[in-house]
Amino acid sequence: MKSNIALIGFMGTGKTAVGHVLAKKLNRPLVEIDSLIERKVGKSIADIFRNDGEITFRELEIEAVRETARERGKIIVCGGGVVLNAINIDRLRENSIIVNLVASPEIILKRTSNNEGSRPLLNVDDPVRRIKELMKFRKPFYERGADITIDTSKPDINTAANQIIDRLKSYEGFDFQE
Ligand code: S3P
Repeated sequence: MKSNIALIGFMGTGKTAVGHVLAKKLNRPLVEIDSLIERKVGKSIADIFRNDGEITFRELEIEAVRETARERGKIIVCGGGVVLNAINIDRLRENSIIVNLVASPEIILKRTSNNEGSRPLLNVDDPVRRIKELMKFRKPFYERGADITIDTSKPDINTAANQIIDRLKSYEGFDFQE
């Protein structure tokens, strides 16, 4: 039986916010892959991108996912690019139900525009265009990774978390007890 819930999805789809609500409702610890990387390296994600580049970040991400995917009973909040390396999804799938959060580009822009600089990939002249390009390229990766997909464009985070719990109840192979 699988006992982790791993949240994937594009930046600004609400993974962190929904993850915290889920952790509270289900009384489970939350692990955020980006925070784990920041703690291990002692640098912010923005600094890792700036000083070491995206490839180094992706290697750190693979290592953090490898460690976390082995755990049980956790809510795992993934960074938006976790799906880009198939090995991450393979590892997560062993113990986790993978929930893909989706939202419209307009909503994503609104949600990501108020944290300037903290999302290095959107630190460009035309972030709307960048979001659309990245979303288009990544869509099949998210879809391939997902066991369950939830649209967070409309519902508040509490409703989105309840929708996930409802879907998990009818999902064979998820252990609520662990
Ligand atoms: C990234 C998403 C970010 C973070 C990094 C790269 C991506 O996480 O991991 O900036 O490639 O989509 P969030 O999805 O939590 O913003």
